[in-house]
Amino acid sequence: MAGLIAGRPPRVHSDKAMSALSLVIRPEHPDDAPAIGRLHARAFGPGRFARTAYRLREGVPHADALSVTASVGSFLVGSVRMSPVQAEGPAFLALGPLAVDPSFSGRGVGSGLMRAALEAARAAGEGLVVLVGDAPFYARFGFTPVPPGRLSLPGPVDPARFLRLELAAGFSERVSGIVTAARAR
Ligand SMILES: CC(C)(COP(=O)(O)OP(=O)(O)OC[C@H]1O[C@@H](n2cnc3c(N)ncnc32)[C@H](O)[C@@H]1OP(=O)(O)O)[C@@H](O)C(=O)NCCC(=O)NCCS
Repeated sequence: MAGLIAGRPPRVHSDKAMSALSLVIRPEHPDDAPAIGRLHARAFGPGRFARTAYRLREGVPHADALSVTASVGSFLVGSVRMSPVQAEGPAFLALGPLAVDPSFSGRGVGSGLMRAALEAARAAGEGLVVLVGDAPFYARFGFTPVPPGRLSLPGPVDPARFLRLELAAGFSERVSGIVTAARAR
C-alpha cells in the first residue's frame, strides 16, 4: 500500500480479484453513515444491538480517521470502524464492526479494509487493538486471544473470540480491567 498522509489511509485500488471492479478503499467520511447503517443491517440483522461488542462501543463516536470504507462506484460495499476505548491505563482501540456486503464477500474486500485500518492505527501511534470476532479470520492479521484475567468486556463473550493485536510492543502490560468506551482524549 502507498504511504500514509497525516495518518489517514490513502485511496487505493485493491489487488487481484477486485481490480476489474475498481474497488476504492478510503477513510470514512461523515456522509457515509447512512450507507454504513444499511450495510450493518444487511450483514448483522437486528440482533446486532444486543451484542457485547456493540455495548462496548455504545455512546462513543468512532474515529473517522481510523475507520475505512470500501466502495465500488457509488455503492458502499464494506466498512470497518475503530473506536477509542479504555480500561486501567492508557486508551487504546476497539475494532468493529467489520462488514462486507454479502454479494461482494470472498473477494478480498474484508482483508483490504483490515489492512488499511490497521495501517492507519499504526501510523497514528496507537498501541493496541482489541475486537470480538472469529479468531480464524482475524489471526491472518496477527490477532490472538486476550490472555485470561487481564482485560474483560462489559458483557458476556466467548473468550476465544476476544482478540487483541499489539501495535506497540509491551502495550498490553500497561492496561488491565474492564474495557469501556473511552472518555474524550
Ligand atoms: C467476515 C467478512 C468481513 C469477510 O469479508 P470478505 O470480504 O469476505 O473477506 P476476504 O475476501 O478479504 O477474505 C476471505 C477469507 O477469509 C475467510 N473468512 C471469511 N469469513 C471467515 C470467518 N468468519 N472465519 C474464518 N475465516 C473466514 C474466507 O474463507 C477467505 O479465506 P481465504 O482467503 O483463505 O480463501 C464478511 O464475510 C462479513 O461481512 N461477514 C458478515 C459480518 C461479519 O461476520 N463480520 C465480522 C464479525 S467477526
